[in-house]
Amino acid sequence: MEENVILKIENLTKKFGGLTAVNEVNMHLKQGEILGVIGANGAGKTTVFNMVSGSFHPTSGKIVFDGKEIQNMQSHEICKQGIGRTYQVVKPFGALTLRENVMVGAMMRHPNVKEAGKIADDIIELLGISHLANVSGKSLTLVQMKRMEIARALATEPKVLLLDEVMAGLNPSEREAIIESIRTVSKTGVSIIIIEHVIKVIMTLTDRVYCMNQGKLISEGTPQEVMSDPKVIESYLGVNKYAT
Ligand SMILES: Nc1ncnc2c1ncn2[C@@H]1O[C@H](COP(=O)(O)OP(=O)(O)O)[C@@H](O)[C@H]1O
Ligand SMILES: [Mg+2]
Repeated sequence: MEENVILKIENLTKKFGGLTAVNEVNMHLKQGEILGVIGANGAGKTTVFNMVSGSFHPTSGKIVFDGKEIQNMQSHEICKQGIGRTYQVVKPFGALTLRENVMVGAMMRHPNVKEAGKIADDIIELLGISHLANVSGKSLTLVQMKRMEIARALATEPKVLLLDEVMAGLNPSEREAIIESIRTVSKTGVSIIIIEHVIKVIMTLTDRVYCMNQGKLISEGTPQEVMSDPKVIESYLGVNKYAT
């Protein structure tokens, strides 16, 4: 693997029956990078994450993480290798407090409750949500839940963190809070891939961007390059044209 590349996706394909959700996709993530993945709904973005995190195995293609092929590993094994993720639809344990939810992440590597608690506390403090530590999962607002999700993923001590539409449903000031959290995580050395619809977030946060459309990669480059690519504009406009 080339120097500095921590994750490499090669000719990745996923078919669901007759539908090719991801079609011969190549991507790489460099160490320390914040990489953006954009594309209209149904483009195949979440399916890429599902394969990288082991929720689904690819129909064909390779995923190389830290020098190892992981495409046939189970999700818990991939998490243990060092790939953490959040979900597009947040799934907190409602009966547990925010701190306990984060501890669940920490316990993967630190089964000792006291140790897991210490790690959870450090991460909660890093993300500036200590004041919410004892609030139960079901009482959190959406933005608080999203921050908890990031904290829980971070508590698994990932080298690579996958964030799937963490800004969805948030207002601009709430987005700012999440952007700050992501910057904080990035500064700790974690490499990040973020699926995002909000263009401003892509422009301000990412180093490099891939755009997908109907399972295929249609553009890659700096955020400026990709956002001004006629193919990208067309794929978004194509969707808007039919939007109700
Ligand atoms: N588990 C699944 N079974 C069947 N089809 C799926 C499944 N997951 C995703 N798809 C289909 O694959 C395509 C890509 O979906 P997805 O990766 O969720 O897109 P995106 O995240 O870019 O909006 C869509 O057509 C979707 O309906
Ligand atoms: Mg999605």
